[in-house]
Amino acid sequence: MAFYVTTPIYYVNAAPHLGHAYSTIGADILARHMRQRGEDVFFLTGTDEHGEPVAQAAEREGVTPRDLADRNAARFQDLMPRINASNDFFIRTSDPRHVARVQEVMQRVHDNGHVYKGLYEGWYCPRCADFKSEAEQGPDHTCLIHRIALTREEEENYFFQLSAFQERLEQLHETDFVQPSTRANEAKAFIGQWLQDISLTRGKITWGVTVPWDDSHVFYVWFDALLNYYTALSYARPGEDVTDTFWGAPTHHLIGKDILKFHTIYWPALLMAAGIDLPRQVFVHGFLLGHDNRKMSKSDGNVLDPFEVMEKFGTDALRFYLMRDVAFGEDGAVSMAAVERRYESELANDLGNLASRTISMIGRYRDGVVPDAEPEDFSVTQAFDEQMASFAIYDALETAWTLVRRLNRYVEEQAPWALAKDPDKAPELDRALATLAHNLREVADLLQPFMPAKMDVLLEALAKDRLEKIEPLFPKLATA
Ligand code: MSP
Repeated sequence: MAFYVTTPIYYVNAAPHLGHAYSTIGADILARHMRQRGEDVFFLTGTDEHGEPVAQAAEREGVTPRDLADRNAARFQDLMPRINASNDFFIRTSDPRHVARVQEVMQRVHDNGHVYKGLYEGWYCPRCADFKSEAEQGPDHTCLIHRIALTREEEENYFFQLSAFQERLEQLHETDFVQPSTRANEAKAFIGQWLQDISLTRGKITWGVTVPWDDSHVFYVWFDALLNYYTALSYARPGEDVTDTFWGAPTHHLIGKDILKFHTIYWPALLMAAGIDLPRQVFVHGFLLGHDNRKMSKSDGNVLDPFEVMEKFGTDALRFYLMRDVAFGEDGAVSMAAVERRYESELANDLGNLASRTISMIGRYRDGVVPDAEPEDFSVTQAFDEQMASFAIYDALETAWTLVRRLNRYVEEQAPWALAKDPDKAPELDRALATLAHNLREVADLLQPFMPAKMDVLLEALAKDRLEKIEPLFPKLATA
């Protein structure tokens, strides 16, 4: 079956940071897991290049928006292999193929009668590229997120008739369209009051997708950006349009909680207006916070740098840590000290030792050959798969870890080194070693989407006819 998973597309006004790595790694784990289950997966990520945030950043740096976009998009493209993301395509919204497709869909929205011209008056945050209702403003018309003064905008532009979709959105939000359920309630709150029509275009900006029926306007960047999920499928595979395959498949958008309104209200409404099917689900993750539980910011010195983590502990350790320390969906604090603790106690000790003990005992007592005995089955795969299917990545990882811990206990209970001293206990020793090999293989399979490089090494080692010693998977770090 086909399965489509996406990350948000990242603004090119800044360099990649931990938040971007987080969204991407979460989506990558799902994509890899679904591939492992034999699904036909398409995994999309990319960059959001138009609009005011980028135009303003370019102006500050004295370069053109396109130059800034090219430079920073390259940094995001480089990030993907560094974090071992297995994306099938990287979309850039400045790509003319995306632009043409946006124009085509928007023309349909227009022709379906959901666009009208009007006067926009209101408060706008150029950093969010968002118009703020009264409830979304701080004191004296400030942005609650960026703590900057909002600008008073008054311009003639085209409106999208969001209000026409009130009822259908209410119905949609009675389903499990938004996960987890805490976030679903937040989404519902937006439609609690009567929805207002929203600005679809901007007349003051030029860095964007030109409106096909009025070339003095460009589309409001969020609409151009959201459409990436749909447009990419028409050209991502050379010579092929895979829209029918993957837009027709269960589509899952993974996003951070700050962009909930756009993905759970505007996006489905736009698709309804264009007569396009809706995605299956939007999964919303929380925010990674500094060790002091505050938003990470360079000036507070509480930033966890993903590149530093990868340098010190490796890419797989970063991937593991981010899914292990903070429940996916909730906010949580992260720090270098916590990475180090998890690395030592869970990767080096629990998992690394289990792997090397298992392989070396089979080497020592059975010449490297896994005994042909019926293994005891501690399988957790069913529970793990169910959790993954509902995006409960954190729970699934804990489920896998219960097996790791169970096997470590099993080694102590069975004490193969004692069994090996008594020739009468040979069948028991066979069974213990077969059990360890069998279940360790399951562990490696379950964890492969989380730590693909290390688990591939382990799976290869376990697939040999005669097991050979391997280098420690997670070497202890020399303490400075
Ligand atoms: N360009 C828009 C998304 C358009 S999608 C059609 C955007 N870009 S972003 O670069 O600002 O953010 C992208 C993602 O990174 C969001 O999902 C956001 O939640 C996530 N994160 C940014 N900082 C974060 C943390 N500190 N913690 C976790 N994720 C956060 O929004």
